[in-house]
Formats: sequence, C-alpha cells, structure tokens
Amino acid sequence: MNLRKIVIAIDGYSACGKSTTAKQVAKIMGYKYIDSGAMYRAVTYYFLEHYVSLTNPKDIENALDRIKITFHVNEDKETETFLNGLKIEKEIRKMRISDQVSQVSALKPVRIAMVNQQRKLGKDKGVVMDGRDIGTVVFPDAELKVFMTADMQVRAFRRQQELLDKDKMVDLLEVMENIHMRDQIDTTRAESPLRKADDAIEINTTHITIDEQVEEVVRQASSKIIQFMR
Ligand code: CDP
Repeated sequence: MNLRKIVIAIDGYSACGKSTTAKQVAKIMGYKYIDSGAMYRAVTYYFLEHYVSLTNPKDIENALDRIKITFHVNEDKETETFLNGLKIEKEIRKMRISDQVSQVSALKPVRIAMVNQQRKLGKDKGVVMDGRDIGTVVFPDAELKVFMTADMQVRAFRRQQELLDKDKMVDLLEVMENIHMRDQIDTTRAESPLRKADDAIEINTTHITIDEQVEEVVRQASSKIIQFMR
C-alpha cells in the first residue's frame, strides 16, 4: 500500500528534546530528518569565521550568497551538517555558536535564505523538520504540528548532559543562561518569532521519557495519515 506522506513540524524552546524526538520519529516512519537549527548554526559559524558584521546588510547578503548547507547521513545513520562541503557538525554545537546563533537567526535576510532552502528540502513531504518557525512560517500547511515545552531546569540539565556526552564540559549555569537568552531573543524577535501554531498539539516533556514523546508523535502522525486515507 502506498501511504500518503505528510510533513511533521516540531517547534519549541531550546533543549526540549525536539531533535532527539524528530530523529527517532523520522527513523520509525522512514522519513527524512531536517534539523533547521543546524542551518542557522552553520550560518553563524560562517559569519564568525569570516568576521561578517551583523549590522552591515551588504556584508550579510554577500556572505549568504557564498553559503551552501547540505546534510549527509554517515555510516552510523547519523545526519551530519556540511558547510560548503566541509563537515562542521561538531563545531556548530559548541557554546561559541550557541552564544551568537539567536542574534544571527533574527536577521531578515538570513531567515529568507534559510526558509527558502527548508521549503525545497521538504517539498516532496515525508519529512520531519524541527525548529522555531516550521509550523508557523516554513510549512504552515504541515499535516502535523507539534509544539514542545519543558521546565527550564530539566532542559538545562539535559543539554549539559548532551554536551558532556560529546566531550564538551560546560557549567550548568552557563547552559541555563544560554538557553534563557536564546528563548528570550527567539520569542521576541520581529521576524517569525517562536510561537505555538494555533493548530499545533503541545507536548510537555518535563516528566516523560524520550520513548514516550516519540510514541506520542508517531501516534499522532499515524492518525493524520489514516484521516487522509478516508
Ligand atoms: O538545539 P536547540 O533547541 O538548543 O537549538 P537549535 O534547534 O540548534 O537552534 C539554534 C538557534 O537557531 C535557535 O535558538 C534559534 O535562534 C535559531 N533557529 C531559528 O531561528 N529558527 C529555526 N527554525 C531553528 C532555529
């Protein structure tokens, strides 16, 4: 049977478990996973490496013309981010990028360029994309929209653990300050601020396990697919 493919948009605050959930849902459903945050992190990496001034529109436009972001799946089936052919997956997870990414993501030309690429990546559906504006701006017609939340302490602790697993030792307070700062910028910026789409289902991950959140999204996705078969 040829089941109809849908778009699953997962938005929410930093470190709520969006990408962990999105990756596993994509694996179970045989869908493509796109980490839109990695794209903004890659742009930030390029801007920092090339001293692009965030207040010089010409500089920003020129830099965006020179940026090509791609994703490759490695032999461990993990998706890795490449910038102009160079693997930057590890670099973009570092605190120096996390400290600047929300300022870069708030710029209108950056958003226009990334949203264009994200729409191309999802045009054939069968995709799980996570970010801040996927259900509101990138794919407002996504068949399933999920909005994830969790308590700040739990989020900071999980993110610190995740960084430690990647051999990056970061103070809990520093992590907390960073996610608080990013939430603040992401929700108040003029261009596509982070907000829950009216038709999104909300999942609070504070007291549930990864398996439970994955199961919930897969259940919701299956019910959407069944609806479209009727
Ligand atoms: O992993 P985490 O939730 O901490 O962040 P991320 O998904 O890697 O996104 C990093 C940053 O990129 C966010 O804090 C936003 O400033 C920006 N972003 C955005 O503006 N729009 C998106 N669709 C995705 C990320």
